[in-house]
Amino acid sequence: MALCITKLVIFSLLFTSAIFRAANSRTFSRSLLPREHRLRNEKLSHLHFYFHDIVSGRNPTAVLVAEAKMTNTSATRFGSVFVIDDPLTERPEMSSKMVGRAQGIYSSASLNDIGLLMVQNYVFTEGKYNGSTLSILGRNAVLSSVREMPIVGGSGLFRFASGYAQARTHTVNFQTGDAVVEYNVYVLHY
Ligand SMILES: *[C@@H]1O[C@H](CO)[C@@H](O)[C@H](O)[C@H]1NC(C)=O
Ligand SMILES: *[C@@H]1O[C@H](CO)[C@@H](O)[C@H](O)[C@H]1NC(C)=O
Repeated sequence: MALCITKLVIFSLLFTSAIFRAANSRTFSRSLLPREHRLRNEKLSHLHFYFHDIVSGRNPTAVLVAEAKMTNTSATRFGSVFVIDDPLTERPEMSSKMVGRAQGIYSSASLNDIGLLMVQNYVFTEGKYNGSTLSILGRNAVLSSVREMPIVGGSGLFRFASGYAQARTHTVNFQTGDAVVEYNVYVLHY
């Protein structure tokens, strides 16, 4: 008798969970428990790297793809749009270990002072973050000593990411326009 009841309970549990699964697969939206999706411990990580913006020479990593008629006469190069695939390295030297690339766009979006709209993905290639990305969307007043830009999301180990990046110009060659920028990124993720 006890065995029969146990079997019945097991059967009805399996049956009802099958019904729930079937219902779930058909529903547009549903609530989930964060801890059942391994979203238990939010972590704060600090990333430190150098961003190489190479606009000159035979192998530039930042290229001008569009500009307005007025860009040439604008003191802030308003309207110019660059697409970049800039190397990110551990040390300021280009020969130091590569940790990823910054891929995306920057555009001069300020008429009266130098301010770039940054829309970029940091694609990491090193260690446990290999294959994970962070997405940046922010304003970069490149002549300021420290610029802060929001991290608006991420993928891989950086799913659900949020945080901010601080950029400081390390070196800039005013002849060529090439620059090395130090980044400190603080990111909350799981
Ligand atoms: C801006 O100036 C450069 C160099 O003088 C020229 O090559 C380019 O065509 C100009 N761009 C526009 C949109 O007028
Ligand atoms: C990163 O991942 C790619 C693709 O899985 C792999 O080919 C590469 O060797 C990895 N790089 C490092 C540094 O682990």
